[in-house]
Amino acid sequence: MKDFKAKISEHKKQFKRALARVKDEKSLQELRNLYLSRKRGHLRVLIEDMKALKPQERPMGGKMINSLKTLVQEKLESLKAEFSADEPVLSKFDLTLPGRREYRGSPHPIVLFRQEVEDIFLAMGFSIEDGPEIETDYYNFEALNFPPHHPARDDWDTLYITDDLLLRTHTSPVQIRVMEKRKPPIRIIIPGKVYRRETPDPTHLPMFCQVEGLVVDQDITFAHLKGTLEHFLKTLFYEKIKIRFRPSFFPFTEPSAEVDIECTVCEGENKECRVCKGSGWIEILGAGMVNPQVFKNVNIDPEKYSGFAFGLGIDRTAMFAYQIPDMRFFYENDLRFIRQFIQK
Ligand code: DAH
Repeated sequence: MKDFKAKISEHKKQFKRALARVKDEKSLQELRNLYLSRKRGHLRVLIEDMKALKPQERPMGGKMINSLKTLVQEKLESLKAEFSADEPVLSKFDLTLPGRREYRGSPHPIVLFRQEVEDIFLAMGFSIEDGPEIETDYYNFEALNFPPHHPARDDWDTLYITDDLLLRTHTSPVQIRVMEKRKPPIRIIIPGKVYRRETPDPTHLPMFCQVEGLVVDQDITFAHLKGTLEHFLKTLFYEKIKIRFRPSFFPFTEPSAEVDIECTVCEGENKECRVCKGSGWIEILGAGMVNPQVFKNVNIDPEKYSGFAFGLGIDRTAMFAYQIPDMRFFYENDLRFIRQFIQK
């Protein structure tokens, strides 16, 4: 029994020495085989050796073998774990996978488009103004020459907060607010949100954006209006774009016009085009010479001054510029849509 015990403790010593020399997976495996191999491992041999022990000594011998076995197994396991923790990063991660790109916020596509519009007018010497989205009946309608029960109001129905307070239906009331405070010459644009009683569909929304323009000075003519809008549209779209002015009606301008551009989607070639409905033209703004009555309402002498004004739907125009089939996409907050407009 003494011999057996000595043998076991000799094995423990040897094993610890050998373990200290293990440098890689391969030598670890060799050491494992040396002790634990079922055929010729030291433990196997020790079990054989037990036969030389007296029967009453055998349980003790078995315990000793087990404690050696546990030692060997535990040490080998923990060394193995150390090795795999040290494994080169390359084998653990797939470095060929594309990285996750950091997403940076960006202005909304409508804001980007509005800035493009603003830049063109700023370059022509216009300045930018704004006004309240909650308006009084006076600024939204009356001062703009819509009498109280005039049928023209029907086209600008909106949400009323009180009988007198409403969500503005256009940016035109800001013309009045500016002219009340400032005398000509005036050369301004007014970008902003407006509201209408609309059921949303691909080309209508109950909230959308407009840019209003107003020029007031001595001797302003329809030619100035036409030249300014032509320059604007050619810069915004392309030099050769076809533009047409159609007679129209707005209470606050006289004469009034609606301005169409050629269909940027089919260029007038497709009778089935869903954007221009086959007409080849798309309407993008309203314009005209400021009605003398509007000047009187703000105490500007219509005998001395004249002016032109226009109003453009930003969302509508952006839709044509980017060839987007449905205006609602702009406001659904789907990042897959919005990210396409991120400026690099
Ligand atoms: N306010 C008009 C609208 O919302 C657009 C408009 C037409 C504005 C003619 C103008 C203008 O300043 O002169 O439909």
